[in-house]
Amino acid sequence: MEDLKSLVDLNNIPKHVAVIMDGNGRWAKQHGEARLFGHANGVDSVRAILKAARELGVEFLTLYAFSTENWNRPQEEVDGLMDLLVHSITNEMDELNENGVRLTAIGDIEGLPTNCASSLKDAILTTKNNKDITLILALNYSSKWEIRKAIQTIATKVSEGELTVDKITDELISEHLTTNEFPDPELMIRTSGEHRISNFLLWQLAYSEFYFTETHWPDFRRNDFFQAILAYQQRERRFGMVSEQINTNE
Ligand code: IPE
Ligand code: IPE
Ligand code: MG
Repeated sequence: MEDLKSLVDLNNIPKHVAVIMDGNGRWAKQHGEARLFGHANGVDSVRAILKAARELGVEFLTLYAFSTENWNRPQEEVDGLMDLLVHSITNEMDELNENGVRLTAIGDIEGLPTNCASSLKDAILTTKNNKDITLILALNYSSKWEIRKAIQTIATKVSEGELTVDKITDELISEHLTTNEFPDPELMIRTSGEHRISNFLLWQLAYSEFYFTETHWPDFRRNDFFQAILAYQQRERRFGMVSEQINTNE
């Protein structure tokens, strides 16, 4: 099959792409396998999408890997996911470094099992000077958790006289979120046919373009990513204005 990269307009690449990687379980079921088999194959998609994003010059790639709600899954699956995380990070370290990938994470990292948190922190430290692309793993993450934390911090600053209420702007709120060093995603992709946000980046996705596909995450590879970028490039981002205001040069 033709590589769709050549069709992508390199002058209109989103800086930040966020992905809800969904459908590992259904994919495994279709293949007559246990759910963890789907998660393991999903790691190959992560590798492929990271490479494709880097080739296009995407600067930030956020992947929703484990939500705070995912703790409610069967214990065996939760344990398997945590093991997979530790193994994947360890196995991928050299390649991340060779490819200039800075790994970082958003979410309640201290709430992860100790071995997960420590291998993650090691990887973050080891890759911190890499400059080609930033891979942000959303782990033990939920948007309501991060917004609640931000409100608590801001309220504390107000009550301690460090901040006045009139200083609470959109920018100040953004600065108190876990994503404070990243621009908001221009594009959010969700695989596997669900049309919901599932507690992901509620504030940051306020003006993002959404791309939904029926493809399950383990089948979502290079050309599927390019297809999502091509769809994004067909969109007109109006930010509340009218089309004529956007196309003033035409
Ligand atoms: C996404 O795939 C991976 C995680 C949430 C960790 P799912 O495990 O949600 O797969 P489905 O939605 O059950 O098919
Ligand atoms: C969202 O997927 C979380 C991740 C991809 C990590 P889920 O499969 O958990 O979402 P819901 O529960 O179907 O909304
Ligand atoms: Mg799911």
